[in-house]
Parts: sequence; C-alpha cells; structure tokens
Amino acid sequence: METTIVAMRADIGSIGGHLQPSEQVVDAVRNVLEENRGGLIIDYDIHFTGDDITVLCTHQGDADRTDVQDMIWTAFSSGSHVAVEQGLYGAGQDVFKEGISGASKGLGPSLAQLTFKERDNEAFLVFSVDKGLPGGLNLPLYLAFADPMHCSGLILSPRMRKGFLFEIMDVVYREYDRSITLEAPEDLYNLAALLRDEERFAIRSIRSRTNREQSVAVSTTRLHYVAGIMLGKDDPVAVVRVQDAFPAAGEVLAPFALGAHVSGYQRGSHHGPLMPVRLNSGVSFFDGPPCVSCAAYSMHAGRLTPAVDPFDHPFWDHVRSCVSGKALEMRRQGFFGNAMQPFETLSYGGIVSILKELDERFKIEKPPS
Ligand code: 13P
Ligand code: MG
Ligand code: MG
Repeated sequence: METTIVAMRADIGSIGGHLQPSEQVVDAVRNVLEENRGGLIIDYDIHFTGDDITVLCTHQGDADRTDVQDMIWTAFSSGSHVAVEQGLYGAGQDVFKEGISGASKGLGPSLAQLTFKERDNEAFLVFSVDKGLPGGLNLPLYLAFADPMHCSGLILSPRMRKGFLFEIMDVVYREYDRSITLEAPEDLYNLAALLRDEERFAIRSIRSRTNREQSVAVSTTRLHYVAGIMLGKDDPVAVVRVQDAFPAAGEVLAPFALGAHVSGYQRGSHHGPLMPVRLNSGVSFFDGPPCVSCAAYSMHAGRLTPAVDPFDHPFWDHVRSCVSGKALEMRRQGFFGNAMQPFETLSYGGIVSILKELDERFKIEKPPS
C-alpha cells in the first residue's frame, strides 16, 4: 500500500505585520485537522515559520485525490476567519480570492506532495521557508544530493553511487509548466548553470537513479501575472525523504549552515541570508532575516512520530550568529546593488512608477551631426 504525504503552507494572517501567526489562528487550523484524523487523513502535524503555517497530512488513498488538499484549504479558511476577527495583517491572503492586504492575493497555499511505498523505517524532513522563494532551496538541495564535499554518502554508500535525477522548473515561462530533468553527476555543470538563478529556475523534485524512488518534493509552481506584476507563491515547503538510497538527515541539514543569500527578504524585494531557525519561530530584523525551519519525522502506516526539531541544537546557535552577521553586513548597504533584488523581480511596483515619472525628465544628449 502506498502512503501520501501532503504538505501545505499558507500565510493567512499574522501579528504586527508579517511577523508570525497568532496562537488562536493556528488552533483554529489544528481543530479542523483534528476532526479529520482517523477519517479522511491518517495523521497530521502543524507548525509555523515566520508568518506562514505549515500543515502536514498523511493518507493511504488514491494519490490523485484532492479531498485532503480541500480539507486543508478549509482548515486554512477557518484560521483565516479568526485572523479577520483579530485584525491580523494579510488575514486570509492565501485562501480568499480577494486578499485583504499584502502583495500576493488568492494564489492559494503552496503544496508539496509525495506518494510512495513506505520503507520499514521511513524517515523524512519537512523544510519551511519564510521570506524566500522555492529557488532559495536550490543550493542546499544541490549540495546535499550532488556534491560529495557535503554529502559523503555519494562516495560511501553503494546505494547512492548512481546519483540523482533533478526535475527543475522554469518558473518564469508564462503559458504552461516547463521543466527539465537533469542527471547528477553527468549534468553537474548544467545543473549549476540553471540552479544559480533562483528567480527563474527551481527544483521541483529529486529522485534516486538507483531505485527511481522520489526523495524530494518542493512546492515549486510557475509565476503568475496579475495586473502586470509578476507574482509567485513564495515561502515554499519541501518534503525530503532521507537515509537508505537517499542522503542521511545530517547530509541534507549540513548545507544549511552556509546561510546563503536568497531573494524574498523585506517586501519580497531584497536579498538576505537564509537562517536555520527553530520550529515556531517568527521573524524580526527587517522582517527577517529569511529563515528555514525543519521538522523531522519517522512514519509507519501513515502514522507520524512527534516532530523532532534538528535546528534546535547548540550547533545552530553558532550558525545563527554568523548568519546574523551576514544579514547586518548586507543591510548596511541599504537599497544599493546586491542588497536589493533586480528590477524585474521586485514584489512592489513603486520603483516602476518612480522610473516612469522620471522618464520625461531625462535629457538625451545627441552628438552633433
Ligand atoms: P511574506 O511574503 O512572508 O508575507 O512577507 C511579505 C513582506 O512584504 C515582508 O516584508
Ligand atoms: Mg505575510
Ligand atoms: Mg511569509
């Protein structure tokens, strides 16, 4: 029998701006999940990272059925009503068609889903990012699945020697989903050439070449154009099955110590270093820094163990301190150069209007003919 893990993530309103959801909102979402445990779903878990709530459900029904996603959507709607009552910022923005505030309205929650035959000891990690894009996970996933400097299993485990298949999506292609599958290690340089551009290309899945089993599912979708502005589902969630023919948990976690600069910081318009944080952490400095949490589980017949929090360990305190240093250093240059995202990817139209306004004031100095 196959088990499906459904991970959905939504911003349905937060306290004090884009900082973190209220306890009451999280409880309202949890109540709906609890009503469905043992019925529509086998098990669930819930936590937040920054201003987004991550919900995880398991079931053993048809992988294509959407009723579990609908139920989670209902749970998010229920939480959204509480957010409205509490006057939270961006209440219901990822579930109601007409968002109350915020840049991206009604695009729906992010979804990462994986269906597979459970191993005897099924272990997996769930990563949730706030103030980041799906492509923000490109580098840590590349290092964990394709680089023996970070993943010792690639040379130590015969089960991993053949490498991995990376499915990468062109999120900017407008009409349809456009994706490519590259094979590591043969395509290593091609992979790097695409994955370096987190705003255009994002990993959607990774499979083992040894047994064709899927390890990774990221909530990567193409961008949408609303009123001339490019909007995407930011703040992704990713499920990563570990051990056996896949990297070990620690090999997947290790690249996060890098704290690489990613897009999506303050107003979805700045670059900042990705900080590994504890589960249920809000954001703060300049609405960030961009952050990633991890919930680790084991599972049997769809039943989840309580989550373990791998970033709640003294080692990561040192990393957090280094990443804070990187964030401060970058913020010192304010709007200038690499601190802010390129013009085409800003989530706010302010600069576009400034440039339009100034356009007439430019003088063209033609050389004398
Ligand atoms: P979120 O994408 O997390 O809602 O943040 C938006 C924002 O503008 C933060 O400064
Ligand atoms: Mg928000
Ligand atoms: Mg968010």
